[in-house]
Amino acid sequence: MFTVAHLKYKNIWIWLLLLVVLLVIAELPQANGFKVTATLISNHNYPVEEHTVHTYDDYILTMYRIPDSPKLKDNNATSTTKPVVFLQHGILCASDDWIINGPETSLAYMFADMGYDVWLGNARGNTYSRQHKHKRPDSSDFWNFSWHEIGVYDLTAMLDYVLEESNVASVHFVAHSQGTTTFFVLMSSMPWYNEKVRTVHLLAPIAFMRNHSFLLSKVGGIFLGYPSFLSMVLAGVELLPTTSVQKLFCEYVCSPESHFTFLCSGILNFIGGWGTRHLNHTLLPHVCETHPAGASTTQIIHYLQLYTSGDFKQFDYGIDLNLKKYNQKTPPHYEVSNIKSCVNMYYSNNDYMSAVEDVEYLATLLPCAELYRIPYDDWNHYDFLWSINVKEMINDRIIEKIEAYERTHDHPQAI
Ligand SMILES: *[C@@H]1O[C@H](CO)[C@@H](O)[C@H](O)[C@H]1NC(C)=O
Ligand SMILES: *[C@@H]1O[C@H](CO)[C@@H](O)[C@H](O)[C@H]1NC(C)=O
Ligand SMILES: *[C@@H]1O[C@H](CO)[C@@H](O)[C@H](O)[C@H]1NC(C)=O
Ligand SMILES: *[C@@H]1O[C@H](CO)[C@@H](O)[C@H](O)[C@H]1NC(C)=O
Repeated sequence: MFTVAHLKYKNIWIWLLLLVVLLVIAELPQANGFKVTATLISNHNYPVEEHTVHTYDDYILTMYRIPDSPKLKDNNATSTTKPVVFLQHGILCASDDWIINGPETSLAYMFADMGYDVWLGNARGNTYSRQHKHKRPDSSDFWNFSWHEIGVYDLTAMLDYVLEESNVASVHFVAHSQGTTTFFVLMSSMPWYNEKVRTVHLLAPIAFMRNHSFLLSKVGGIFLGYPSFLSMVLAGVELLPTTSVQKLFCEYVCSPESHFTFLCSGILNFIGGWGTRHLNHTLLPHVCETHPAGASTTQIIHYLQLYTSGDFKQFDYGIDLNLKKYNQKTPPHYEVSNIKSCVNMYYSNNDYMSAVEDVEYLATLLPCAELYRIPYDDWNHYDFLWSINVKEMINDRIIEKIEAYERTHDHPQAI
């Protein structure tokens, strides 16, 4: 009896400490985000376009497009419609994820070099998408969303925008982490969107979280995994935006000359999976500069609810609000059997966020799934983006699959 109470008591202090840190960070002056995607793409000598996309619920998102590659200059490739690829980042991440590795090994550039029209999405609340027609990002009104809204509003708006701009009927879709969750949300809730994707590649996919093994989720799940006073208070707050303190941290801790880079990689290992030997350490200053890119605490709380319930379902507001919003006491499950697209899922043993058992369980429920389990025991959540062998293990494989698809299917334009 005593030890259980004692343990919970200790957990409360850990959690309160985290809460204080969180609130302090939220109060720090904004450095207005480091919007480096466009600059970086130009610095890498690729053409880049910035596009503004409005969602149905009036959020204003920024997308980036790499329409061409300097390596294709004499191919007259612009004369024909290029196949389109759409890349969607994970939680607290941004469009930078797909380009910071540089021209040789970044997925976005590899696609551009192969003659694809490349689009990079940015979900509401991150560095590039902190705008709304009426709501200001310093009001809690702005942050009242989870990844459900990102799937249903942001992904639909961005996909439709890309189809129209690039004048095609469907795109190749690649996503990491929360980007995959939003894909599952969209395709199960609005199944007609399945027709707008050609091939689908999901890195470290997350839907069910029964075997999710992140340490803080165990603690967080106790307090925030179901509707409670605390989760009500904490929901709808901006989580970890880029701040001026972060700039100092990046310059002095994550720089190549620093003796403390272990702190930098330590954070990624703590969240994504301890003990990976694959992380490209040269990337740490770039990762630090652009992450965490901002999100709503509601996104985290929604994940903790999945973890606690073991189900993949909509946000639990508590019985009263659920009745109002969903017309039932508990939130509806996402009907993953509606996801008719064939999905390729890439997953690994040492991923704290996306557990092997959960991915394989999800695959049994999907109409069409192909699994690729990384053959390294230490491969973690971020190695899908920033490992030294990401090109061979992930990017080459995705491109090969897409090329095979393109060779055997025609490419109807939008009407
Ligand atoms: C590109 O177009 C120009 C003029 O239309 C033509 O002379 C040239 O051969 C083309 N290059 C290729 C690689 O098709
Ligand atoms: C947040 O959004 C939900 C529905 O999307 C709504 O029921 C609720 O009242 C909103 N909360 C706040 C504080 O605006
Ligand atoms: C995964 O979760 C399920 C359900 O919670 C549990 O029965 C199973 O033992 C877990 N597997 C592992 C390897 O932890
Ligand atoms: C590691 O990152 C650096 C910096 O962007 C990049 O130049 C290099 O090619 C990467 N190394 C590998 C093996 O991918």
